[in-house]
Amino acid sequence: MSTITALTNHQVRLASRPVGLPTRDNWSFTTEPVAEPGPGGVLVKTLCLSLDPAMRGWMNGGKSYIPPVEIGAVMRAGGVGQVIASNNPAFAVGDYVNAGLDVQAYCLIPEDQIKRSGMFKIDPRMGLTSWLNVLGMPGMTGYFGLMDVGQPKAGDTVVVSGAAGAVGQTVGQIAKLKGCRVVGIAGGKAKCDWVVKELGFDACIDYKAGDVKAGLKEHCPKGVDIYFDNVGGDILDAVLTRITRGARIIICGAISQYNNTTPVKGPANYLSLLVNRARMEGIVVFDYADRYPLAIAEMAGYLKDGKMKSKEDVVDGLENFPETLLKLFNGENFGKLVLRVAKE
Ligand SMILES: NC(=O)c1ccc[n+]([C@@H]2O[C@H](COP(=O)([O-])OP(=O)(O)OC[C@H]3O[C@@H](n4cnc5c(N)ncnc54)[C@H](OP(=O)(O)O)[C@@H]3O)[C@@H](O)[C@H]2O)c1
Repeated sequence: MSTITALTNHQVRLASRPVGLPTRDNWSFTTEPVAEPGPGGVLVKTLCLSLDPAMRGWMNGGKSYIPPVEIGAVMRAGGVGQVIASNNPAFAVGDYVNAGLDVQAYCLIPEDQIKRSGMFKIDPRMGLTSWLNVLGMPGMTGYFGLMDVGQPKAGDTVVVSGAAGAVGQTVGQIAKLKGCRVVGIAGGKAKCDWVVKELGFDACIDYKAGDVKAGLKEHCPKGVDIYFDNVGGDILDAVLTRITRGARIIICGAISQYNNTTPVKGPANYLSLLVNRARMEGIVVFDYADRYPLAIAEMAGYLKDGKMKSKEDVVDGLENFPETLLKLFNGENFGKLVLRVAKE
C-alpha cells in the first residue's frame, strides 16, 4: 500500500435541505480511503476552508448562479491546501494552492477540473488565510464590485454594510485608498471600533444599537454616492433614503434574508433610484476570474506596504463545520470566517 492510499479522507456531506437556519441534522460525516491522482490530476491536503454566506444558498434546491449541492455530495467549499501527489507538470508536491477543495480533509482534483476550478498556486509567505480573504474570493468580490460597478471617484461617500466581514473590510479599505469618505455599517461596538480605528474608516454605524437612518444622516451629510450592499433588507431600504443623484448601489449579497422562511424582503424605497437617476446592479465574483491576477497583485502590494489589513477568524476542526458556519448568520465571526482543517 502506498503512503497515499493508507490515508483516510474525512468528509462533510449535505444530508438534507434546511428550512431556515441549518442544523447538524442537515449534514452527514463520512470517511473513505484516499486515492492516487489519475493522469494529469493532483491530490491536495486541505489546510483551511473558506466558510461563506453563499453556502446557505447552495444548500437550497432552486436555480441560482451555480447549481445547488446535491443531497449526499460533499459540501462545496473553496480552500487553501498543499499538493501531496501530482501527475501534473504545473503543480509540484509541496506547492500551496487555492482551489475548490470542498469540506473534506483531502481533495482529488482530476486534470479537467484543475482549469475549471480556477486552481492556482499561492505564496504562503503572504499568510495562508489571507488567500481566503482579501487576496481570495471575498477580496476579489470587494475589489471588482467597488471598482467596476461602483466606479469610485476621490471625494465620493461610500457606505458598506457587513463592514467588518470579509468583503466589507476589503471594500472599505480600497475605497479609502481611492480617496473616498467611507462609512461602515456593522453589528456591535467592537466591530465598529475596529473598522474605524484599525482600518481607517471615517465612521461606522452600529445597526444593532441605533437607527441606521439617523446614523447615515449624521455621517453622510452630503448623501451616499456608492452603497456596497452585503446585507439587504431594512439596511438597504434605509440607505436608499440617503442616496445622491447618479448613485451606484452594488448588490453583492443579502445575508439578512438567506435563512428566511418567508419571501425575501425587497426594497420598499426603490423609487429613490428613479428620483436620483441612480442604479442598482448585482455582481457575481466569478465573472471577473480572468482579471483576478491583476487585483491580487494590487492588493498584495497594499498588504506588503502595510496599507491594507486582512483579518480572519479561524476555527479549528472539520467536525466543527456545522456550528461554525452558523457564526456568519448570527454575526459571531469577526473577520473572514475560516475553518482550519489541518496545520501545515
Ligand atoms: N456576489 C458575490 O459574488 C459574492 C461573493 C462573496 C460574498 N458575497 C456576499 O457578500 C456578503 C458578505 O459576505 P462575507 O463572506 O464577507 O461575510 P462576512 O461579512 O464575513 O460575514 C457575514 C456577516 O454578515 C452580518 N450579518 C449576519 N446577519 C445579518 C443581518 N440580519 N443583518 C445585517 N448583517 C448581518 C454579520 O456581521 P454583523 O456582526 O456586522 O451583523 C456577519 O458577520 C454576503 O451577503 C455574501 O453572500 C457575494
